[in-house]
Amino acid sequence: MLKNRNLINADDFTTEETLEILNLAQDIIKSPESFSDLCNGKILGTLFFEPSTRTRLSFESAIHRLGGDCIGFTESKSSSAAKGESLADTIRTVSNYVDVIAMRHPNEGSATLASDYAEVPLINAGDGGHQHPTQTLTDLLTILETKDTLENLTIGFCGDLKFGRTVHSLTKAMSKYPNNKFIFISPEELQIPRYIKMQLEAKGVEFKEVEKLQEVIDKLDILYMTRVQRERFFNEADYIRLKDSYILDNKKLKNAKKDLAILHPLPRVNEISTEVDSDPRALYFKQVKYGVFVRMALILKLLGVR
Ligand code: CP
Repeated sequence: MLKNRNLINADDFTTEETLEILNLAQDIIKSPESFSDLCNGKILGTLFFEPSTRTRLSFESAIHRLGGDCIGFTESKSSSAAKGESLADTIRTVSNYVDVIAMRHPNEGSATLASDYAEVPLINAGDGGHQHPTQTLTDLLTILETKDTLENLTIGFCGDLKFGRTVHSLTKAMSKYPNNKFIFISPEELQIPRYIKMQLEAKGVEFKEVEKLQEVIDKLDILYMTRVQRERFFNEADYIRLKDSYILDNKKLKNAKKDLAILHPLPRVNEISTEVDSDPRALYFKQVKYGVFVRMALILKLLGVR
């Protein structure tokens, strides 16, 4: 049984609870048909105030695969937010229609605010540049399925580490497991936020920051590539200058470990050349698949079905 009925931050669940969700997702992978009617009569609300392909559709796929149904909106202008309705009133209203809510919103902290008004479990599907905890569950499942462990790994995060909420969430989550080390690879302007470095320091977790991927690629067990987040820049000129800071291609992978796992939350723009897609170390489309199974497990846990 989960202690928390919401998932707002990557560390809302204990490591034991997270493992329960990941193990349930692994059971679903082995035998999806055994789960196909566990959410009969249940409705998921997908409230997306910001664009999404993977997160929204994987949640919708997840509830359908569990025998449930789904209602929602895909942009704020097709909801009464466009008429000035507050987030609190929207959440109070939707709580009457559904059994669980997945919400994406451009404002940092919006998921916490929404959870104060929700009368059903609320899942943060991304709040601005802050957190994206269900992507983290997806990433953890991908790592567990590939490496068979969440410990003793050197993880390189590369790209926009300032605005990349998936990086913030995954760093938090992986820092809970013993002997993981982090290498943050970014231009100076897109460095990982100071508060995250302070959290790592406080926990005694080893990390370093570098600008060049080539300097460290041979050390990595996991390379987590990220997109430069155009929508979070104030200035288009800065985005243009920084957008192609890192482009992973076969040449750059020459010195990488044979069992490197290359992850990316997607969407990608330019940061991984398509020639890398056929490399067996490229796991980003497997990650997409795991995203459905882990969201099925999360829904089952939050609804108390499993
Ligand atoms: N990974 C992810 O959040 O993708 P979407 O923006 O398409 O949902």
